[in-house]
Parts: sequence; C-alpha cells; structure tokens
Amino acid sequence: MTTEPAAPQTGPQTAPQTVDLAAAYEASGVREVLKELDDTMIGLAPVKQRIRETASLLLVDQARRQLGLATETPTLHMSFTGNPGTGKTTVALKMADLLHRLGYVRKGHLVTVTRDDLVGQYIGHTAPKTKEVLKKAMGGVLFIDEAYYLYRPENERDYGQEAIEILLQVMENNRDDLVVILAGYADRMDRFFDSNPGFRSRIAHHIEFPDYSNEELLKIADVMLTEQNYTLDPAARTAMADYIAARRGQPHFANARSIRNALDRARLRQANRLFNEAAGPLDGTALSTIAGADILASRVFRGGLDVDRKPAKEAAE
Ligand SMILES: Nc1ncnc2c1ncn2[C@@H]1O[C@H](COP(=O)(O)OP(=O)(O)O)[C@@H](O)[C@H]1O
Ligand SMILES: [Mg+2]
Repeated sequence: MTTEPAAPQTGPQTAPQTVDLAAAYEASGVREVLKELDDTMIGLAPVKQRIRETASLLLVDQARRQLGLATETPTLHMSFTGNPGTGKTTVALKMADLLHRLGYVRKGHLVTVTRDDLVGQYIGHTAPKTKEVLKKAMGGVLFIDEAYYLYRPENERDYGQEAIEILLQVMENNRDDLVVILAGYADRMDRFFDSNPGFRSRIAHHIEFPDYSNEELLKIADVMLTEQNYTLDPAARTAMADYIAARRGQPHFANARSIRNALDRARLRQANRLFNEAAGPLDGTALSTIAGADILASRVFRGGLDVDRKPAKEAAE
C-alpha cells in the first residue's frame, strides 16, 4: 500500500495552482494555424518567428489569468510593414484565426479597409462611415491597408483626423473585442507614427515583412501553380527564373503578387497555345503544363513593361 503525501490544506479552492502549457497549446488549435502558415507560406522566417512568439505570449497570458496573475487584456494591435505583395494581408487572415482560437476575439473574421472606406467626402459623413466599419469588424480584426493615408497634414480640413480620433478611442476601449492591424510601407508608417503618437503607443507588435529572394519567388510560383493543378515544365521553370530576375528591376514590382499576375497571364497564353496547336484530344498533362513559350512571350523579355499595374486593392482580391 502506498501512502500519498497529504494534499496541502488550502481552504476553499479559488484558482488552480498550476497550469499545463503544453496541454493548453494542444487544446487551443494553435498548432494547426502555425502549421498551415508554415506549409502555405514560403520564406518569411522572421514573420513566422514573431507569430510563434505572439502565440506563446498569449498562451502564457491565459495561464496567468487562470492563476489570477493577469487581469488586463493585453494590447494586441499590430503593424505589418513591408512592400506590396510580401504577404501582409494573407498573414493577417491567419493572425485573425490565431487570435480567435486563443479566445481574444469572438468571431475571428478579417475586415480589410483603406482610407476611402473610413473617411467621407463631406462634413458629417466620416463618423458614421468609420463607425459602420468598426461595427462590422467587432469580434475580429480590422486591417487598415496603407493606414498613413488617413493622415493628411497638408490639408487642414481633412476628415481623416476625425476617423483617426474614433479609431484611437475604440482601440483603447474595445481592446477585448477588436484587434486593429495597420499595414503599409515601413518608411511611411514610421512617419505616420511620428505624427500620430496615439497610434504608436497603442500598437504593441510591429512585424516587418521582408522582400522575397528570387529563389523564394520561384518556390512561390510552384506553390501557386500546384494549388491550381498546373506545373511548369523544365523550360518554363528556367524561363520563370529569368522572368523573376528581370521583373524585379522593373517599375511596379510587387513581390508575390507580381508572380500571381504573371502566372495568370501564362495560363491565358497556355490556353491560347492549346487552341492554336492542338490537333487531337488533349490529356490532363497537356492541359496542366505551362511550357517555356507561355512564359517567354511576356513583354518583360522584350524590354517592355509587363501588364502588372492594377491598383493594389483590386489586385489583392
Ligand atoms: N510567402 C508566400 N508564399 C506563398 N504565397 C504568397 C506568399 N506571400 C504572398 N503570397 C501570395 O501573394 C499574393 C499577395 O500577397 P498579399 O498577402 O496580398 O500581400 P500584401 O498584403 O503584402 O500586399 C497573395 O496571392 C498571396 O497568397
Ligand atoms: Mg495587402
């Protein structure tokens, strides 16, 4: 017979005395989000690392609450800075999922807006517009793309200021049900924070999205095509590598978004080619293979600009 040491008599149990972080991690579903992030997003090592750290911080925060050590809701507002097409919007979606699984937002949806969605053209229009957006975003994440356009100091009667004041108030008062992510170019965001210290002080997490290397962009092309059941044949793969090197030096280069656009056009050319060349039935391989010619027909190889100049918002869809 074994004798257990007597449990310490602590009187009425109010809070547990220990927590199992590993069990909390497993139960939260955070592992799945982090795995999906790893599996679907090429590169971004520093971003992935920051997201893992944020997840750990929040799991520890929850553990501290269970032990009665933490009382305040942590500040979760963030800034995502980097050039266009570096994955900010895509990662924001995953962040919303993560915050939802950890119980920091009720619904976990992402509402993406720009200045025009928040700021009105006429007096009296801005407050209702901003409040409507905030209402939609409650319980989730509000992603403000190119947030610095809210602030236009050169325009003394700019309604952006009104939107800013409402946002700042809600970011403070509704911290337990709304997370705001400000996104855009790093240098402009810095200047925006300099002129709007209220935002800087409310944002706890600044995450920087680096440009992708040529090798990463080629891998991204592979991932995108695989998702659509297409492949590059060896000549197309070589051509794509050359395309990436040339495209990077041209105006309006937008990292992974330029790759997505280039592949859209390559599929168009492939379809044309199949129509023009096919003399008989086509098999699955023929229908799914991008050939060298489909890439090499791009204007990028003729010293011209590729058609890649859609406004950021439209192109992001
Ligand atoms: N690391 C990556 N791996 C795979 N695809 C990516 C990666 N980063 C971006 N993409 C893709 O590139 C496109 C642009 O990304 P997006 O998140 O809209 O960039 P941003 O918001 O920074 O402009 C999207 O189709 C996205 O899925
Ligand atoms: Mg975006």
